[in-house]
Amino acid sequence: MTDNIFQTNTLPTFPRGLVRIPKTLPLRYQTPPEWAEGVLLEPLELLSDQAYLEKKAANNALEFLNLWPSAGPPDHWLSSIATIAQDETSHLKAVLKLLEKKGGVLARSHKNPYALDLRTLVRKGKGGQELADRLLVSALIEARSCERFERLAESSKDSELSKFYAGLIASENGHYQLFVDMAMKVLAPREVENRWDKLLEEEAKIIQAQASGPRIHSGTL
Ligand SMILES: [Fe+2]
Ligand SMILES: [Fe+2]
Repeated sequence: MTDNIFQTNTLPTFPRGLVRIPKTLPLRYQTPPEWAEGVLLEPLELLSDQAYLEKKAANNALEFLNLWPSAGPPDHWLSSIATIAQDETSHLKAVLKLLEKKGGVLARSHKNPYALDLRTLVRKGKGGQELADRLLVSALIEARSCERFERLAESSKDSELSKFYAGLIASENGHYQLFVDMAMKVLAPREVENRWDKLLEEEAKIIQAQASGPRIHSGTL
């Protein structure tokens, strides 16, 4: 795996070895190290799960391409989407390469009940509110993924895996911020801030309610 797989245009690349950036994450529930120690007992299943998450993240970003709220795309709307989709596709390539190298096989199917639960929070049929919620739910998934990669990088005894997870942190951190910025272009900033606060509270309940297992968005035993 080459270093440039993880390059992103969203934020400067963090120096090698700097794993923790918790102050930039607004999450209301902190994943304990025990979660990472548990899921790392099944590293190949965890990589397969992540591969599907990266694919879904790329698809999800592209769905916003022409959903701008005004007559034309706001500044940085299109470039944000293109950047996220490109990053996620790079992550997919990297995780598939690592899965194969370690002797794993991509599962035939995939479920992510965490994301499904989050999507129930979207105010459907509400125009700008629906779009902003979809963007903020995307931001939540990115922020939680970022936090989970931090825990995995810290806990993995496999240096290759640890470097792999550490290399994803800055990218996912940038993605969550881009989605929040996009929501700010849909609704008034104060409205977005209030909604973001509410959704952060809900996300903390949802992640803790997930079943345990070798998944990036699983619950803790
Ligand atoms: Fe990703
Ligand atoms: Fe991402």
